[in-house]
Amino acid sequence: MSKTHVKLKVNGKPVEGMVEPRTLLIHFLREQLGLTGPHIGCDTSHCGACTVDLDGKSVKSCTVFAVQADGGELITIEGIANADGTLHAIQEGFREMHGLQCGFCTPGMITRAYRLLKENPRPTEEEIRFGIAGNLCRCTGYQNIVKAIQYAADKLGAAKKEAAE
Ligand code: FES
Ligand code: FES
Repeated sequence: MSKTHVKLKVNGKPVEGMVEPRTLLIHFLREQLGLTGPHIGCDTSHCGACTVDLDGKSVKSCTVFAVQADGGELITIEGIANADGTLHAIQEGFREMHGLQCGFCTPGMITRAYRLLKENPRPTEEEIRFGIAGNLCRCTGYQNIVKAIQYAADKLGAAKKEAAE
């Protein structure tokens, strides 16, 4: 099958590759770019383990063709940490509040939470639950994931307030 050249920015760095029109974004990320943080849990757009951030939106990368990401800006879990290498507040929240057990859903969950807090920096518990409704976790019962996102919202809110003072 003929291949198409794609060029995009992933975690702040320009990348390119040759892909078949049918290549899914998740396969391009994992197999060609070696970014194995986004997981494949279902391949049917149900579980959210493959969630990445594309042009400011959470997308399930098993339902997007790599060619559709051409020219885009993409963030995966590998690009979520702070520039100085310290954990992002959401990652810290998952650690502090025990927001994971097996960890399989965690990259997608954190990447989704990253966008959720940009869309709504002070979400209510209900808004958090609604915001992560597309991401399934088979282990935690969600309670501590919600607490982890609340932790991050508080921390990011406090940092913003401090910067404004
Ligand atoms: S692998 Fe994409 S939603 Fe499950
Ligand atoms: S921590 Fe195991 S699937 Fe979420």
